Amino acid sequence: MGTIYAVANQKGGVGKTTTAVNLAACIAEAGYETLLLDIDPQANATVGVGLDKRLEPSVYELLSGEATIEQVVVPTSVAHLWVAPASPDLAGANVELPRIPGSERRLREALRGVRDRYAFTLLDCPPSLGPLTVNALVAADRVLVPVQAEYFALEGLAGLLDTLKLIQRELNPRLSISGMVVTMYDARTRLAQDVQNEVRTHFPDLVFDTVVPRNVRVGEAPSFGKPVIHHDPHSAGAAAYFELAKEVAARG
Ligand SMILES: Nc1ncnc2c1ncn2[C@@H]1O[C@H](COP(=O)(O)OP(=O)(O)OP(=O)(O)O)[C@@H](O)[C@H]1O
Ligand SMILES: [Mg+2]
Repeated sequence: MGTIYAVANQKGGVGKTTTAVNLAACIAEAGYETLLLDIDPQANATVGVGLDKRLEPSVYELLSGEATIEQVVVPTSVAHLWVAPASPDLAGANVELPRIPGSERRLREALRGVRDRYAFTLLDCPPSLGPLTVNALVAADRVLVPVQAEYFALEGLAGLLDTLKLIQRELNPRLSISGMVVTMYDARTRLAQDVQNEVRTHFPDLVFDTVVPRNVRVGEAPSFGKPVIHHDPHSAGAAAYFELAKEVAARG
């Protein structure tokens, strides 16, 4: 039985896509069948693994019921890593979904049976708590929250946790928090250290030990359409994502 993780934080640019892509690649590298599902109209995860964001059918057709997950999933150049690509059309789903009663469960229904094929499924969410993220949280077993080691990092986390509680209560009782991961950590700055300490003080049980450093190789890997472990396997970023993958798997 596989596990579905939503990588979510309504704050933009905190490392959701980077974490989803690189965690998925590390898990696949360990030999597990892994599905990366891109539910963000920006389609950064799709492009980040070297695919075109105009592929059809995409997660848009999956949500609108025009395609099945089998039809949407495509292989990547990474062994054991599969992608359900996003397309800019997904922006339309933000408007269309709320008009359909019960649309919060669309993705969950579309992913029925996915656990039999993939040990790990990662959902890369857009930077909002709108209908697409709600669909991901209803479909998921666990939420992984990247937190950027910058000022304002904690802002919005309380709201995110409130949303998670609401979804647990109303729509998805099995949802739990896998953990929070500090990203883009620059050890040379006092600010990054302070932010890390603050996040750990506020959420002592939730924050993973692994901290993802700010690393040029991580930042440039998407422009080569590759996860960092293939772009530069010896980089500090690749090492961090391997460690994070171990921690995530160990938490179950
Ligand atoms: N550890 C890192 N080191 C260097 N650059 C990074 C790192 N993590 C992320 N970045 C860069 O920071 C930017 C934002 O990261 P990313 O796209 O993963 O955030 P996001 O939360 O998915 O953004 P959005 O909210 O727009 O979806 C990207 O340009 C990415 O390449
Ligand atoms: Mg993103």
